[in-house]
Amino acid sequence: MDDLVLPGHGTSRRLRCRVLQSPLAGVSDPIFRSLVRRWAPEALLFTEMVHATNLELGHGRGKVDGLAAEPGPVAVQLFDHRPGAMAEAARRAEAAGAFWIDINMGCPVRKIARKGGGSGLLREPELARRIVAAVVAAVRLPVTVKTRLGWCGAAADPVGFCLGLQEAGAQLLTLHGRTREQGYQGRADWGAIARVKAALSIPVIANGDITGPEAALACLAQTGADGVMVGRATMGAPWMVGRIDRALRGQPLPPLPGPAERLALASEHLRALVAQRGDQGLLIARKHMGWTCQGFAGAAQLRQRLMRAATEAEALDLLAQAAAGVDERFRPPSPTNGRQAFGRVEMGPQNGLDIPAAGQGFFNITGTGFGGGSCPGNAYRH
Ligand SMILES: Cc1cc2nc3c(=O)[nH]c(=O)nc-3n(C[C@H](O)[C@H](O)[C@H](O)COP(=O)(O)O)c2cc1C
Repeated sequence: MDDLVLPGHGTSRRLRCRVLQSPLAGVSDPIFRSLVRRWAPEALLFTEMVHATNLELGHGRGKVDGLAAEPGPVAVQLFDHRPGAMAEAARRAEAAGAFWIDINMGCPVRKIARKGGGSGLLREPELARRIVAAVVAAVRLPVTVKTRLGWCGAAADPVGFCLGLQEAGAQLLTLHGRTREQGYQGRADWGAIARVKAALSIPVIANGDITGPEAALACLAQTGADGVMVGRATMGAPWMVGRIDRALRGQPLPPLPGPAERLALASEHLRALVAQRGDQGLLIARKHMGWTCQGFAGAAQLRQRLMRAATEAEALDLLAQAAAGVDERFRPPSPTNGRQAFGRVEMGPQNGLDIPAAGQGFFNITGTGFGGGSCPGNAYRH
């Protein structure tokens, strides 16, 4: 596999790995990124999305400061509806050591979209282009966009929208194969990603429902995309990006981490979060421990206890007791030939996890969480 090179405007960037770790608000913090990097040292990781105006006001710096010290590439993802704020935030991110600047045009969360940021820009193609142009003019780094197929099925014109972003100066697009109206429901439409890929001259990264190596290979075959971005399948499974990368390179896959390794990882993640964030770290660790402690006898009971543990020591003790009791007969669900939906009932086959559908954890994405769109039949009207 050749490297992917983005020219930038003075600072070019070279991607050695065609699997990208999704930006995941509330998840992809520096500690999570350090775990992902253990299995995928060369992969491009993303910050959680950063509000440009907040950065201008001096908030949200924690998400950007310290990037230069990270041992591998990290792109900064920005969102806002104000071109000037985006340009200023991009300059700061560049100075902080961003690998490149990514613009979020897909976040479905109502309070963000309503103000015209994230997926709100899908309804404002002209503003979306102006934002890209402003950011491109502000930095030497490559500027990329992560977006969706459109606001809603009836109005979606992914090819036209993405061509506009390319003309405005975006040097790579990541396309999540769902509309904003869909949220995370249904299947990602890889056929639509293929149509966008065929129409654009810049690299296109396919996103949506990459549950593991087989799905990644199937998605690349169907879309002709230049790489894949993986989100939910990495939650609780920081080995996933590295695993898919191996598959894309035709290398043999090691066995999935068994119970002992998962429990050790959960302890390590918990310790790191508490060391960095104190009591809040324990609360944040709960979701990670819940995602990681899956697929062995007693896991469900352990998760329940972990959610109730009041201190780090209590949680570590539970994990240690579980480690002393587990046998190594790990039972990942049987592999399937490619795609499988996420959800609490249907499981991601490759990582052996019960992965939450997006929104069951950090965001209230399902149901009424998106708020009123203007699509006929929009299920998220208020
Ligand atoms: C908890 C969570 C947080 C997310 N945060 C972001 C974000 O900050 N920026 C973004 O562009 N997408 C975000 N997404 C969307 C993912 O990056 C990705 O596009 C989506 O989950 C589809 O990919 P998947 O099927 O591999 O999960 C988030 C998704 C989840 C589940």
